[in-house]
Amino acid sequence: MSIKRIGVLTSGGDAPGMNACVRAVVRTALYHNIECFGIRRGWQGLITGDIVRLDEKSVAHIINRGGTILYTARSKEFMTEEGQKKAVSTCKFLGLEGIVAIGGDGTFRGALALSKYGINVVGIPGTIDNDISCTNYCIGFDTAANTAIECIDKLRDTMQSHERCSVVEVMGRNAGYLAMYVGLAVGATAVLVPEEPIDFERDVIEKIRQARFNGFTHYMIVVAEGAGSAADIAKQIKETIDLDPRVTVLGHIQRGGTPTGRDRVNATKMGYLAVELLNQGKTNRIVCTKDGGYLDVDIDEALSMKKSIQRMEEDVLAAMTGF
Ligand code: F6P
Repeated sequence: MSIKRIGVLTSGGDAPGMNACVRAVVRTALYHNIECFGIRRGWQGLITGDIVRLDEKSVAHIINRGGTILYTARSKEFMTEEGQKKAVSTCKFLGLEGIVAIGGDGTFRGALALSKYGINVVGIPGTIDNDISCTNYCIGFDTAANTAIECIDKLRDTMQSHERCSVVEVMGRNAGYLAMYVGLAVGATAVLVPEEPIDFERDVIEKIRQARFNGFTHYMIVVAEGAGSAADIAKQIKETIDLDPRVTVLGHIQRGGTPTGRDRVNATKMGYLAVELLNQGKTNRIVCTKDGGYLDVDIDEALSMKKSIQRMEEDVLAAMTGF
């Protein structure tokens, strides 16, 4: 069985590697003689029929580009039944036999809704938050982490010279995976994530004290945005032990830049697999990574899974902070 025409879209917050993934979807489709259309501005583009034909040339030299050539959006209209019905009409009008949706949790909720109307949909996890439960890895995480690490390494130089305390806020929405990973990589004095209840005295002040006892005179506190604002944490530190911390919110800088090799290769493999699934007539699936391999899971099942910070990561972090 073979399909003739598919669409690909990126939705939610962009993530470095999304372009590499779009490229892989297009190239795999063409390899199977399947026509491929880009749907611009996420699910909203499927409502309005905002499409662009994607051929070999249109995805040339985008594997190394951050952002998404398809643009992205968070569509409120698509969350309504009316919006979803319009999107279904667009699919039928254009003869799209499958949709590849690259994004995060919200994107997959949209994909699930569409699949209930009989449209074949496969999701690919693309979010710097790395908070999709069914997969170990989400496209964009590695690049975002490396960007944050590079920034914090630079900050450390000046914090060290001035013997200061720095509080750095890392993105992640309600999840702490990015902050935890970055905190480990930069050798942070303390790391605060939303998954763990925070005891300010134990988790921040005592860590700074330990670092001081260990001979250090500058301190790097990494806070996940979901665990609190860097400005509030800095204020609390100042009020408690009279340090004068400098605040850095890394913000959207973490979402940009050239994707790392890891992101490009994962994006390419996931894009390839998504088209293979559609071509096999599969629907309502998310492409995932697990134990170094790739698999696909049902979207309903994926959305009901819970992701948690692993015990080992917590233990390693406890041993590595306070310096
Ligand atoms: O989900 C990706 C993400 O960058 C989160 O880490 C962050 O909380 C959010 O998007 C920011 O959204 P926006 O780009 O709409 O400000």
